[in-house]
Amino acid sequence: MIAHTYPLSGAKVLFKLIGLKSLAHKLRKKISVIRHNHMLNETKIFHTLSPNLLIGITRAFRHLEKNAPHLLENGSYLEFGLFKGFALWFAERISQEFSKDFTLYGFDSFAGLPKTLIDKEEPNWTPGAYACNQETVMNDIQTSQGDLNRIRLTKGFFSKELFANVLKENLSKNHLSL
Ligand SMILES: C[S@@+](CC[C@H](N)C(=O)[O-])C[C@H]1O[C@@H](n2cnc3c(N)ncnc32)[C@H](O)[C@@H]1O
Repeated sequence: MIAHTYPLSGAKVLFKLIGLKSLAHKLRKKISVIRHNHMLNETKIFHTLSPNLLIGITRAFRHLEKNAPHLLENGSYLEFGLFKGFALWFAERISQEFSKDFTLYGFDSFAGLPKTLIDKEEPNWTPGAYACNQETVMNDIQTSQGDLNRIRLTKGFFSKELFANVLKENLSKNHLSL
């Protein structure tokens, strides 16, 4: 008889036979999450996960220039969640076109996502995903001619205390936050 279904792999058949099919499924999922996080966290390429953010940043600066140019003087940009810092780098570079007196604040754990409160397993949102350490972020920004003198990084998981410390600093009232 010719089988019309796709043949099961040897390992699958074995797991099914000994009643470990769901364990095998969980194991496969775990491995794919580990691979996914490893690929994201270990790649040396300086990039953003949100290319459209760059368009949004440019439009926001243009909007301010056209409608409220005074907000660009002594203004600031706040970004919560940096990954490799590419969007922050981009914002710093483009801010030079619009204001000589501008500060860019970046907030991140630099250890990836925190433990999730959602009980559903979602490969893109596992704790530790998107981890990139602060030194690498700063090096990448500087290597691509970003001006670190205009950038302030704050390390830590988001909390009232973390932001309270930052607000104690002289954060300008004119800010663009993403
Ligand atoms: C999806 S990535 C951000 C993508 C980035 N804006 C870009 O353009 O590529 C999420 C980032 O937010 C950080 N992050 C997420 N939740 C956080 C939290 N509660 N506290 C601190 N950092 C957090 C992670 O460490 C990670 O760097």
